[in-house]
Amino acid sequence: MDTRSLFTTVPATAAESVQRSRTVDRVVRGIATSDGAGVKLTRVLTQNLQRRLDPFLMLDAFGTDSKDDYVGGFPDHPHRGFETITYMLAGRMRHRDSAGNEGLLQNGGAQWMVAGAGVVHSEMPEQEDGRMEGFQLWLNLPAADKMTAPWYRDMPSAEIPTVALGNGGTVRVLAGASHGVAGAVTRPVTEPLYLDVLLPAGQAFTQALPAGHNAFVYVYQGEVSIGDGDDRAVVEPQRMGVLDNAGTADGVVVRADADARFLLIAGKPLNEPIAQYGPFVMNTQEQIYQTLADFRDGRFATIAAGSGA
Ligand code: FE2
Repeated sequence: MDTRSLFTTVPATAAESVQRSRTVDRVVRGIATSDGAGVKLTRVLTQNLQRRLDPFLMLDAFGTDSKDDYVGGFPDHPHRGFETITYMLAGRMRHRDSAGNEGLLQNGGAQWMVAGAGVVHSEMPEQEDGRMEGFQLWLNLPAADKMTAPWYRDMPSAEIPTVALGNGGTVRVLAGASHGVAGAVTRPVTEPLYLDVLLPAGQAFTQALPAGHNAFVYVYQGEVSIGDGDDRAVVEPQRMGVLDNAGTADGVVVRADADARFLLIAGKPLNEPIAQYGPFVMNTQEQIYQTLADFRDGRFATIAAGSGA
């Protein structure tokens, strides 16, 4: 399903100038898995890439026409220490959390949640048939902010700027900025860039990137080439291209070999220790033990309810 026709586009207000493109360091094939109550998904960014792609901790892609793959949803479960960004291309998902927030996430919309000190929430499908497609990205919080009050924001499709690129392509700016247009969300410290790009065959997309930021492209439709000249690398559908961090590159140039849709995600690394236990991501094992004790003793709900989020 192409929901682009539903979007109102805005013109680019600046060009992205890139003298030298990053190349692809490695191409990663996701791992088929299931999570929640049996929801089938592809884990694209796995735990072994957390250092390499710091500040990002996980990327899951889901896309299916079969209700059996998603109908169980994600019943009540906790998070602490990071942010989750859920982007729905198709389908409807109801979110409820321990702070009393509730929202409906659907076609082209996103939800940005800062779990911070702790949230218990559910993410359940509100459809019994039809296509469900989207992504969930986990973005780490700096050590100093891990115990911040939780908050979340629903971003219906209309609140996510969609920029017309002038070559038939569009870029939806979920976070950061592209072509002079500020995204729906700006976050301090990790400065995430989250773009969803549609590019017709034969066209190119250019994006400036700060040299020190880790970046990757996930192709979910079509096929792209990344980089210039001999360094050009092909990234096939359902593959993630991890972009290199060579100091001389000032951005990335992505060419569509076939009509393509892809995510371009980048952020400033935290360079802090990562201690993960399931849905909890802290800096030390001691903090994980404390988190488990807090969750066991029901302190998450209190934190969330008291946050005023
Ligand atoms: Fe969750």
